[in-house]
Amino acid sequence: SSSSTPPPSSSPPAPSSHFIGKKDDIVKAGRVTKLVNGCRDVLVLYHQGQLHAMDMRCYHSGGTLQHGDIEEFNGRLCIVCPWHKYKITLAEGEGLYQAVDDPTARPLRTHWRSKGVKQRIHKITEVNGDVYVTLNDCAETIESDTYQTERYRSVPLKA
Ligand code: FES
Repeated sequence: SSSSTPPPSSSPPAPSSHFIGKKDDIVKAGRVTKLVNGCRDVLVLYHQGQLHAMDMRCYHSGGTLQHGDIEEFNGRLCIVCPWHKYKITLAEGEGLYQAVDDPTARPLRTHWRSKGVKQRIHKITEVNGDVYVTLNDCAETIESDTYQTERYRSVPLKA
């Protein structure tokens, strides 16, 4: 676009945005999964007044993030994968883990570290009560991309 003026909030979303559902319905459900643009399984979740969107299958081994609990670690909200308890920040898709400085020290001192962005996070837009997702088109491979192929889509997921 040649214009730098932001569009009014009532304007239709950009063509790359994909309708997910009514905000009221998503809030009620808490979690919604959807195949977006025929190519990407996305989890949209509502937590503490915020909507978040990310790849549906966990970057570690394809776990069902839609069944994960949301908890805060080191002041950051994470979804905890139900399969092996990996922690993924909702805002950035970073993998968090607890590191030990000195394994011989007593008591053991641990602190949270980031493995970097592992889960692809997508952008949410709300227009007049409708929720849209814009797929994150960052060209760099993100580990959760592994589980976005037909192969994983056709496998029935265990809870
Ligand atoms: Fe998610 Fe292993 S598949 S933690």
